[in-house]
Amino acid sequence: MTAPAYEFVIYGATSFVGQIMCQYLIDEFAEGEVRWAAAGRSQEKLNTLVKGLGRDIDTIVAAADDEPALQAMAEQTQVILSTVGPYALYGSPLVKVCAQSGTDYCDLTGEPQWIRRMISAHEEDAKASGARIVHCCGFDSIPLDMGNFFLQQHSVQQFSAPATTVKMAVNKMQGGGSGGTIASGINMIKEVSKDSQLRKDLADPYYFCSTDHGFNASQRNVTGAVYDDDFQSWVGPFIMAAINTKIVHRSNELSGKAFGEQFKYDEVMITGSSFGARMGASSIGVGMGFFALMVALPPTRYVLEKLVPKPGEGPSPEAQLNGFFDLSFIGKTEQGETLRARVTGDRDPGYGCTAKMLVQSGLCMARDISKSDKAGGCWTPATAMGDALITRLIAGAGMTFTLE
Ligand SMILES: NC(=O)c1ccc[n+]([C@@H]2O[C@H](COP(=O)([O-])OP(=O)(O)OC[C@H]3O[C@@H](n4cnc5c(N)ncnc54)[C@H](OP(=O)(O)O)[C@@H]3O)[C@@H](O)[C@H]2O)c1
Repeated sequence: MTAPAYEFVIYGATSFVGQIMCQYLIDEFAEGEVRWAAAGRSQEKLNTLVKGLGRDIDTIVAAADDEPALQAMAEQTQVILSTVGPYALYGSPLVKVCAQSGTDYCDLTGEPQWIRRMISAHEEDAKASGARIVHCCGFDSIPLDMGNFFLQQHSVQQFSAPATTVKMAVNKMQGGGSGGTIASGINMIKEVSKDSQLRKDLADPYYFCSTDHGFNASQRNVTGAVYDDDFQSWVGPFIMAAINTKIVHRSNELSGKAFGEQFKYDEVMITGSSFGARMGASSIGVGMGFFALMVALPPTRYVLEKLVPKPGEGPSPEAQLNGFFDLSFIGKTEQGETLRARVTGDRDPGYGCTAKMLVQSGLCMARDISKSDKAGGCWTPATAMGDALITRLIAGAGMTFTLE
């Protein structure tokens, strides 16, 4: 069998985040250093993109519902990095094709209902073909899943025991949203508002685990202002917790319950210790509820859709450059030993940083994680790539992982 022509293909190279990924590859890698191609549904848009990048880059055309074209694309590459979203609307045929053909796949989805569908539908095919399917290779959930992985490794080194309780708090974060991300969020709320079973499923922290997972630890779920003694601060809900916590619990199961059967993990946002900070923590939950209500009701959704960024739009290059994130983790072992870790990123979380994370995931899957080391299946970032990805994120994606 001849080796695939490409290490990875960026599918959705013309998307807002896909364009940042392409520019990052041009800026950081010499011509020929990475074997990659840009793919999308429109040859014309791809030609415009390549012309703007000023380098000779191969292109592949495939519409999201054209399985023969997706299959032909999958046969030419080791890994597909997909930014074609909302994934619940456009992403399923590609996951099916990759799972059946043995091609590795990474994406940026943060849509739990769709991830659950993909695991249920394609995990067995991926195991049989050797395809490694890795969802959530952007801000959700790499810094969180890898941050917990990093802390757990040090806990085992220092205390010979995992941290059975881990809390993550966002210290600071600056960034905006793109049309694609907002469209994905709106689509998810639309699905949830029509389906009461899905509402219940989404509240389950073990939603991505197997049916016989056996976990029953009750998890903290911060929805309003809470004073947290460990962080010595008021904390409020973190919007991405709904996806990240499920990924981290799946990592626990896929690593043989390495963090314990009673593992607890939660995520919050730090607002400070003053009275104003308490009000700030309350207002996060109120704001999230208000947005969900606006989207759930058709008349307000109509108005909202006119106001938010459209697909293809997102934060300016200056906003990406000035953005950042700073996350704290506190882990405690069963014996009460405590460990603190910190994870930071040097661009806005959703675009500048996310683009680098997805490219580095592609390189990691293609170069560091051999098919004989990691079998096919639906993995999480930490269980698929572990240490090798942390090394790449530090060296090439402007991220830090440190103990405090
Ligand atoms: N996890 C994270 O932290 C994170 C961060 C950023 C983004 N995201 C997610 O990543 C996705 C992309 O975001 P974005 O803002 O870059 O989105 P975007 O600019 O709206 O781009 C969407 C992409 O999907 C393509 N597309 C739509 N329908 C298609 C079809 N039928 N066939 C083939 N391609 C099709 C579009 O192609 P055209 O260019 O031809 O229109 C475009 O390339 C979203 O789902 C977003 O939620 C996640």
